[in-house]
Amino acid sequence: MLVTDSKIHEYCIQKSNRPSKTCQDLEEYTKNNVPYSQMLIGELEASLLGFLLRSIKAKNVLEFGTFTGYSALCMAENLPNDGLVVTLDINSETVGIAKRFWEDSAHGHKIQSIIGPALETVKTLDKTFDFIFIDADKVHYLDYLEAGLKVLSPRGIIAVDNVLWSGKVLDQNNQDQNTQAIQKINNFISENTDVYGTLLPVRDGIFLIQK
Ligand SMILES: C[S@@+](CC[C@H](N)C(=O)[O-])C[C@H]1O[C@@H](n2cnc3c(N)ncnc32)[C@H](O)[C@@H]1O
Repeated sequence: MLVTDSKIHEYCIQKSNRPSKTCQDLEEYTKNNVPYSQMLIGELEASLLGFLLRSIKAKNVLEFGTFTGYSALCMAENLPNDGLVVTLDINSETVGIAKRFWEDSAHGHKIQSIIGPALETVKTLDKTFDFIFIDADKVHYLDYLEAGLKVLSPRGIIAVDNVLWSGKVLDQNNQDQNTQAIQKINNFISENTDVYGTLLPVRDGIFLIQK
């Protein structure tokens, strides 16, 4: 999942502003108790999302892919007291874990979880969002981006996670459907003149996009 040297990555974490103790406890709990814990964004990416939210003074965030609620809580910590993270997932079991940790946090009240297929749920939302984080199933990534662009506020930012997919995106002959879906969204962003995109080699790759 890491595309940079692990010691450099660790050094960057140590020198950056990091998520709270509750977020660290949630990360630790997930690593010790939940399958596929490598899906968590980790501290460096959480710090980057926090920096971006602060920079644009974001109030409303939409997240595709809650899992155990780590990224949602890390983002909520960087919103004002009346800020909101709407986070979408199909798995009520992992979201149950998320809710336990959110309840222990002074920022948990800013998070609203909606269970169901994200592509259906997003159609029911009647607000715009200053920041959108795409981190659910990879095969629907382009659908999530297209849906996200419709509800993105004029100066909002979309961040798409795992866009380097452990470097597999470099293989044009890769037949894996997740790899192909990520290559597809990366090509869409880079060829689309209506959006401005920057792909950063942070953790597993993160694409930042503005209209
Ligand atoms: C990579 S994890 C999210 C990790 C989380 N953002 C974090 O860093 O703390 C991806 C999540 O997407 C969810 N997911 C998969 N397919 C989905 C779908 N069709 N609609 C909504 N969520 C989905 C999975 O249940 C899983 O929890």
